[in-house]
Amino acid sequence: MAIIYLDNAASTWPKPPAVKEMMAEVIDDFAANPGRGGHTLGMKASKSVFRTRVQLSRLFGIQNPNNLFFYLNATQALNQAIKGFLKPGDHVVSSSVEHNSVRRPLEYMRKTIGVEITYVEPRDDHQFYPEDFEKALQPNTRLLAVSHASNLTGVILPIAELGALSKQHGVAFLVDASQSAGVLPIHVEEMNIDMLAFPGHKGLYGPQGTGALYVHNDIDLEPLIHGGTGSQSEAIDQPTTRPDRYESGTVNTVGLAGLLAGVSYVMEKGVENIREQEWELTKQTLVGLKQIQGVEVYGPGVEVERVGVVSFNIDGVDASEVSFILDQQYGIATRSGYHCTPLGHQTAGTEQKGAVRASYGIFNTQKDVEALIQAVREIAAAFV
Ligand SMILES: Cc1ncc(COP(=O)(O)O)c(C=O)c1O
Repeated sequence: MAIIYLDNAASTWPKPPAVKEMMAEVIDDFAANPGRGGHTLGMKASKSVFRTRVQLSRLFGIQNPNNLFFYLNATQALNQAIKGFLKPGDHVVSSSVEHNSVRRPLEYMRKTIGVEITYVEPRDDHQFYPEDFEKALQPNTRLLAVSHASNLTGVILPIAELGALSKQHGVAFLVDASQSAGVLPIHVEEMNIDMLAFPGHKGLYGPQGTGALYVHNDIDLEPLIHGGTGSQSEAIDQPTTRPDRYESGTVNTVGLAGLLAGVSYVMEKGVENIREQEWELTKQTLVGLKQIQGVEVYGPGVEVERVGVVSFNIDGVDASEVSFILDQQYGIATRSGYHCTPLGHQTAGTEQKGAVRASYGIFNTQKDVEALIQAVREIAAAFV
């Protein structure tokens, strides 16, 4: 049975063939330590990592590639941004659809240094409005930290407007682009984004073990990790130069070469084209699932654009059972249960039962959606 992979919001699969080829090339030819040895292989490794930095900078409108720091995933990047930025007495405005990778570091800062947090809710139409974030600002607000898109309902937050708002009020703006990097247009300068965290292994089609954080020149973060950087080795203190200040330890040279291939593939295809393709599949899913008796779909209706994420439940059937049947009987891979976002589940009203999530990538087709809808129809008919 061929697998229909609908868990792209977790990690995209499959990857463009060039990802594996690039990684194999690095392993075979020069997987030395970048920025350390002055020898030919070390220089090749440094160049390779820098090429990935440059390509990502092009995609996101980052002027200086050295303001982009590599991590193993979005979570590490978000931890560096949040814990490195906040100080006692600060207030943060965030949203009620945040992933635990934003919420937990924020709550940790609340517990440890007394940071205050306000989570803004969507309105009845499931959408977020800049005015509601503006109302939440306080004199001590220093950070606005939001996801670009929800990993549970796919709802998109108005990032450009929130960037303008942050700038107007002198508040730093952190965006978690885990569900949008490679899928929605992002330009850090035009959108006034001060910090952008994203994974390499989702919509950028790199391998797992890749992620990054962009930080504007004017923002100084306290580094979370201290150690070897290959630069200023004689100094006791962490270097002040970027990216070294925030990249202690050997980076994932092999994975980052794969990420370069993934990002290049995305740029060649065009973010707008990817967006259009995924939205078509998403619309087809929303329309199809809504016609099935006993199926409840979460988030806004088909009239509101979202990223390629659709969460649903079948009345009276546990979400994990639905996912299990989809996997075992139909070869369809979805994610079930709680999607690392208790806040998001409260907002969607699924905190008691979780949900089944189908999420799309560039290799999905209309046939995949048809197979999902047919399978859900059969499961619902058997149980409801
Ligand atoms: C909105 C959001 N933020 C953060 C993350 C964490 O990403 P990573 O697994 O790369 O740390 C995810 C992963 O699903 C996500 O969907």
